[in-house]
Amino acid sequence: MKPRKPLVAGNWKMNGGTLANEHLFTGLRASIDRHLMSQVELIVCPPYPYLGQAAAWLGDTDIAWGGQNVASLESGAFTGEVSATMLEDLGCKWTIVGHSERRTLLGEEDETISRKAELALAQKLNVIYCIGETLDERERDITEEVLRQQIERAAPVIASAPAERFVIAYEPVWAIGTGRSATPEQAQAVHEFIRTTMAAMGVQHARQIRIVYGGSVKPSNALALFSMPDIDGGLIGGASLVADEFVAICRAAALG
Ligand code: PGA
Repeated sequence: MKPRKPLVAGNWKMNGGTLANEHLFTGLRASIDRHLMSQVELIVCPPYPYLGQAAAWLGDTDIAWGGQNVASLESGAFTGEVSATMLEDLGCKWTIVGHSERRTLLGEEDETISRKAELALAQKLNVIYCIGETLDERERDITEEVLRQQIERAAPVIASAPAERFVIAYEPVWAIGTGRSATPEQAQAVHEFIRTTMAAMGVQHARQIRIVYGGSVKPSNALALFSMPDIDGGLIGGASLVADEFVAICRAAALG
């Protein structure tokens, strides 16, 4: 048994629609029982327009829902942005921040991301904070340097958050949506590095903070990944769109 309760979050990205979501919610409701929920914390993150639908379908279950992103500002004239208060109003318990697709495609930087995390926490939302290196950075052998910088910017906000309300998602960018997952040993080495680096930067509860892995997690590789001592679950993209696959991954987290 791990000292930390595993957590699995589904990041639907810009996929889905009312009917497809109904199908997915129905599948999740049918297979995820109280026993599984007592062993694993489960979250789904649909696109913003479907958060109300998630509330309607999951409100009477223990499956939580959350945003894929949140604004770095509180409110006002920021066309297209969605605030932490609005997510909270829609029943979200969580939000993802700093996903690599937002970092690389939309130019989000560490300072903005840690500000988002701060605002979300202040608004009673829990945070999944994504970090990870690109293929180029791994090939140049600067993975640890890149992660150290990302953790350094986030350290004050991590240190101020209760352990159960803050999750780090390690997502090597080269493994996201590529079918090419990090090996369990590769991922474990990085997770251990993240934990010791947080502790060295003054995060006193680094041992209690969950660090989940993301990047081509599937039913076939989930158990091997989640069995590693510092891998506390997963952030799941593609496989979270298929109820049976997502449920199989959640079961692997309970066993891991
Ligand atoms: P993937 O995405 O599981 O499709 O690789 C993971 C993520 O981007 O969170």
